[in-house]
Amino acid sequence: MTNGSEGFIALMSESALKDGDMIEADTDGHKLLVARVGDDFFVADAHCPHLHANLTKGTIEGTVVTCPLHGSRFDLTDGHVLRWTSWEGAVKSMAEFVRHPRSLRVYETEIFGGVLRVGPQKEFPAKA
Ligand code: FES
Repeated sequence: MTNGSEGFIALMSESALKDGDMIEADTDGHKLLVARVGDDFFVADAHCPHLHANLTKGTIEGTVVTCPLHGSRFDLTDGHVLRWTSWEGAVKSMAEFVRHPRSLRVYETEIFGGVLRVGPQKEFPAKA
């Protein structure tokens, strides 16, 4: 392997991100969230699956990103929903009816030659 894995493209220098950083990157018009947690890197769609707010304007704690608009939370390790909006009661039920909870798309990453590279979308087995 001289150029890194096939299907992966360079995003930025590994050293461009410090532990706890979360920034937006662009690959051919596709906006991505890029985060570093310790020595691990995570790449996901930058826009919230709820109503498309820019998640990089939200907050990150460990691998959990919180949307700045309505407070949905996603785990960057696999994109699963930890909370679908911060609304409660009937408003939350209505929100879930109108817009069913859906996971955040997350992508494979690799470091090659000091460069963070993004690959295909991560796939997970369907939950029973
Ligand atoms: S747009 Fe992210 S929670 Fe509504």
